[in-house]
Amino acid sequence: MLVTPFAYSRKWTRVSEKFIASLSKNMTIQKATKKDLASIAKIASESFSGFKDLKKSKKWVSCNFLAFPRGQYFVAKNKDNILGYALWVEKGGFRKESVFELEQLAVKKDFQGQGIGTEIIKKSFLEIKKYVAKRGDSLKIVEVTTGTDNKAQNLYKKTLGAEPECVIKDFFSRDELIMIARL
Ligand SMILES: CC(C)(COP(=O)(O)OP(=O)(O)OC[C@H]1O[C@@H](n2cnc3c(N)ncnc32)[C@H](O)[C@@H]1OP(=O)(O)O)[C@@H](O)C(=O)NCCC(=O)NCCS
Repeated sequence: MLVTPFAYSRKWTRVSEKFIASLSKNMTIQKATKKDLASIAKIASESFSGFKDLKKSKKWVSCNFLAFPRGQYFVAKNKDNILGYALWVEKGGFRKESVFELEQLAVKKDFQGQGIGTEIIKKSFLEIKKYVAKRGDSLKIVEVTTGTDNKAQNLYKKTLGAEPECVIKDFFSRDELIMIARL
């Protein structure tokens, strides 16, 4: 049978879609280890304009990792494949009524739109709550910021109960919306 280039590429699209679906189905959300940092830096570099320089991205990720428990990375993982990550950062000291920011969230491009971002936030948020409770403290506020035109706003409302609080004009590369969940 003659396989046309179109049929051939459709076949490979189906194969890669199946592969992507199988990776995201069998994933777990876990605390990041040192071994995960290079993958996190690569995803950040592909996802955010301020992280295009991979060397700087690696340095920034490494600094946050070393700041544990003030900074806590979580990864969505299938075997050794990192599909996405979240970075939580505690603000204003280790307070009795703690304030955390979901500082960064990204999912690899090919894996977006399959519920991975939602899963990372839900599971990592639970882990942060457990961590604060174990310390004998409570979680008062979760802050998250995003570009005013970013679709992620819905995601933060659904998963964290965060509501828009104010807009900072011309912050990173555009206007930035601050969202707050009061717990
Ligand atoms: C935002 C992001 C982490 C969401 O992860 P995801 O796995 O695609 O998310 P989900 O499949 O769980 O979908 C959750 C919501 O995100 C929205 N979403 C999907 N793709 C998106 C994208 N490229 N950018 C922003 N939001 C997106 C969806 O509309 C969905 O909302 P809905 O449930 O109301 O339809 C991911 O798209 C991403 O890494 N984007 C680039 C980096 C980024 O913008 N990070 C957030 C910065 S504040």
